[in-house]
Amino acid sequence: MDVQKILVMNGGGDAPGLNAVIRAAVKRAILGYDWEVVGSIEAFNGVLDDPMRIMKLDLHSVVGLLMRGGTILGTSNQGGPFEFPARRPDGEIEVVDRSDELIRRLHRIGVDAVVSIGGDGSQRIAQGLFEKGLPVVGVPKTIDNDLGATEMTFGFQTAVETATDAIDKLHTTAESHDRVIIVEVMGRDAGWIALSAGLAGGADTILIPEIPFEVDHIALHVKRRRKAGHHFAIIVVAEGAFPLGGTALTVKQREPGHPNPILGGVGRWLGDELEVRGFKHTRCCVLGHIQRGGIPVPMDRLLATRYGVAVVDLIAEGKFGHMVALRGDDIVSVPIRDAISHYRNVNLDHNLVRTARGLGVCLGDRVPAS
Ligand code: F6P
Repeated sequence: MDVQKILVMNGGGDAPGLNAVIRAAVKRAILGYDWEVVGSIEAFNGVLDDPMRIMKLDLHSVVGLLMRGGTILGTSNQGGPFEFPARRPDGEIEVVDRSDELIRRLHRIGVDAVVSIGGDGSQRIAQGLFEKGLPVVGVPKTIDNDLGATEMTFGFQTAVETATDAIDKLHTTAESHDRVIIVEVMGRDAGWIALSAGLAGGADTILIPEIPFEVDHIALHVKRRRKAGHHFAIIVVAEGAFPLGGTALTVKQREPGHPNPILGGVGRWLGDELEVRGFKHTRCCVLGHIQRGGIPVPMDRLLATRYGVAVVDLIAEGKFGHMVALRGDDIVSVPIRDAISHYRNVNLDHNLVRTARGLGVCLGDRVPAS
């Protein structure tokens, strides 16, 4: 296939390292293949809007991007071409399929191939477009690290660093005031951020969606710590964690065109439950979007850069419908279909889980041996 022009887009929530991927892809496409590169503003909305919002991406436009958080393309986690939220004349929002129109528009502006940078939602869209004949390749992005077929998504390591830094700071306050401090972290239905930052930050209790917790176990664990002379406790809870027999708490439902509810509230809920059990002055700190922001750590810059170069090479090789992925120390390619066919939860046999249990960290399902 003779490629002359490619389009780069990112969808879903922003993640540290997005700009580094864009920079690397643009450099590789121009310096390695002499292709023209354009970017769609705000996921595929830029192509679907009238007038189109398309940005020329030349070497000059990517200067200084390596360490910049966010994305110069903007992003959206609402809708997408298959479920585009459109306003009816009566003011109501309805969801319409504009995927064929998107492909026609891309042809009209001479785009030969598309780089889709995104998590499972965006890669699902990429797969749908690929099945309709669009030459598309993917880059796995999300702080949640929950995309299948890759050992790591970029953005995750920065989120873990941010959460660990917050836990370190909360430790000193918890210790000074003899308090139980609960730190609620992101991660959707996967506990990777909570488990990694919890271990790195020395949390006493780590609660993840993969292990339903029992408040009485947590209370007993904190009491035992007190008896042993430690009058404070740090509990890290993933936003998607839930009590045994219950479900994850949500802040609100999404607007039309968005499949996932907005998770949140479990930290405050747990604090109230612990207060009922006698732990006065329990505090909860919700880290929220701080985890998605800021400068990518070097390991994310590296991963993003490796992904950005490799994804352009996939286009040159004609490996459409594939996504770059980390396997061991290598960047490989995997069918996008494999990446979206299973949600990458924390496996309960994972070494991080075994390490936590080995340290006597309470994971909420039982009281660790004292
Ligand atoms: O998928 C990334 C993520 O930050 C999740 O960890 C979180 O549940 C969600 O996005 C928050 O989405 P929003 O930015 O729409 O509030």
